[in-house]
Amino acid sequence: MAFPTETVYGLGGNAYLHDSARAIFAAKGRPSDNPLIVHIPSLDRISQVCGAVDPVSQILAEALWPGPLTLVLPKSPSIPGSVTGGLATVGVRIPDDPTAMELLRFADVPVAAPSANTSGRPSPTAFWMVQRDLSGRIDGIVKGPDTRIGLESTILRVDQGSIFILRPGAIGVDQIRQVLDEAGMSAIPLYSPSDGTPEHPERMDASHHQVPGSRYRHYSPSIRVRRFTDSASLAALLQDELNENPDLRFAILTTQRFSTLPLDGQSQRVVVYADLDHYARQLYRDMVQLESEDYQLIILHYPSSTVFSPQEGGIQSALQDRIRRACADE
Ligand code: TXA
Ligand code: MG
Repeated sequence: MAFPTETVYGLGGNAYLHDSARAIFAAKGRPSDNPLIVHIPSLDRISQVCGAVDPVSQILAEALWPGPLTLVLPKSPSIPGSVTGGLATVGVRIPDDPTAMELLRFADVPVAAPSANTSGRPSPTAFWMVQRDLSGRIDGIVKGPDTRIGLESTILRVDQGSIFILRPGAIGVDQIRQVLDEAGMSAIPLYSPSDGTPEHPERMDASHHQVPGSRYRHYSPSIRVRRFTDSASLAALLQDELNENPDLRFAILTTQRFSTLPLDGQSQRVVVYADLDHYARQLYRDMVQLESEDYQLIILHYPSSTVFSPQEGGIQSALQDRIRRACADE
């Protein structure tokens, strides 16, 4: 059963049952070695899904749950290996969404839920996206409003006294640092994909510090996606594309207004978001919408670090990550 969370819609099933994991993998067409995230409604249920929680994870869980954070923890034997793709760890999350919460309380068991999309497609952030993608292959969809954050949770693992961000999300390095500072744990090293190299290549290269999901193509609509960082690179990209095909139907998704572009308005669209939060919230929805309107190319503004403020850090690195993946063919 699909249901909304504050990040994206999930496709949920009883996390104790091998068969429900199997049904989820089948509906998504997902490789069975790519583990599912297990959702619980409150911290007092955590022993149902994992073994001993290390003190750092405990602090982060208390401070940041419910919220867009998944903690990788030692798996409890009660969770079948099919849920975790055979790993000894399990990703756990308490979502910050009233509908998700109601569903989790009603289910009364931990709920395994990957994003409710066909494997490799953008995660759904609206009811209609789940319907379009998975109708006929799942038992139902709990309908909620469009999701508030729009990008998948931050995934984090504490290992040998260090914190590794395995997938960037709305909860960023600054916010995690702040929690650690307040708990008197400022000295803990924290590694994120963006700063993992070249300073700490040995740590971020270790395969268990990447999510298994990062091996697969991700977040892409079926049409071409390219990216730019500033007006000069956008102009060059457009020249290149329009040389090739003067009638190209393309859309530009950006947080900036550009006055000097060669746009005729017929076969082109420019979507300007108010800020990075807005961009993140809309990104998947707008990509899928444009795809359904037969656009041929989506051009994404890549928020490079010089352009935006540190307060927006979490969502900025999440956007960078998803945009890079959406353009993986470049
Ligand atoms: O915001 C979210 O996290 C959404 C909502 C529904 O909660 N869920 C979501 O799930 O994005 P999914 O399955 O699409 O992405 C989960 C990612 C995958 O890349 C998977 O490889 C990774 O989490 N993952 C799950 N369990 C893991 C584990 N034990 N160790 C490392 N990575 C894990
Ligand atoms: Mg997913």
